[in-house]
Amino acid sequence: MTAQVPSPAANHGFGIDVGGSGVKGGIVDLGTGQLVGERFKLATPRPSTPDAVAKTIAAVVAHFGWTGPLGVTYPGVVTDGIVRTAANIDDSWIGTNATEVYRTALGGQPVTVLNDADAAGLAEERFGAGRDQTGVVVLLTFGTGIGSAVIHNGVLLPNTEFGHLEVDGKEAEHRAASSVKEHKGWTYERWTKEVTKVLVAVENAVWPDLIIAGGGISRKADKWVPLLTNRTPVVAAALQNTAGIVGAAMAAHGDGTG
Ligand code: BGC
Repeated sequence: MTAQVPSPAANHGFGIDVGGSGVKGGIVDLGTGQLVGERFKLATPRPSTPDAVAKTIAAVVAHFGWTGPLGVTYPGVVTDGIVRTAANIDDSWIGTNATEVYRTALGGQPVTVLNDADAAGLAEERFGAGRDQTGVVVLLTFGTGIGSAVIHNGVLLPNTEFGHLEVDGKEAEHRAASSVKEHKGWTYERWTKEVTKVLVAVENAVWPDLIIAGGGISRKADKWVPLLTNRTPVVAAALQNTAGIVGAAMAAHGDGTG
């Protein structure tokens, strides 16, 4: 069934979050950061090549019958629509003009492609855990890797890659992604020691006013955020599984992207 298409005049946008297991989309009220209706998810194709992901995105858009600008996240660096890195996705993405591939798959609809953590950061800063905060907000997502977003007074500094900072001789995401906790069978206490090291490296580099902890493991934030011993206040992400969709829709409308 195709959902009803809202009028663009109603300040609605459309976002798609491309993750390791699912491609999720929804219509977003850009005034409130809420989804208008349901979130729709299809499995991420394997291998997750550009053409395969583009087909899946087209199917998500078709489900809603959405026409008009839309934003799509990508789990790596994207500059001017072109993919630069592929840490946890198929290598064939590197050098791909993602904006063009998606636009073609969608029959010419304008598409904005941005980093997944940047999208989540935009949404959290505006509508979620950072909404009353001024100054520098850093969002870190803990999942398969570690993603980062830096937002200063509502404007994103795109493509920070704190997950790839070297911390004590090891890449941050190899030290403290939630996948490392799972893989090693660590307790929250053990894992949080590694997370603290990463947060200290980040806060010594950019001195944020607030750090927002995102990613699936932020749902269990009460089990581990209180154990952190870094300097900057850390709060759990509030929007959970809609942040990427909302932030992508915001970026497609130039909200928070300067
Ligand atoms: C990528 C980031 C991405 C993060 C979460 C990292 O490996 O380099 O760009 O935001 O994973 O998907």
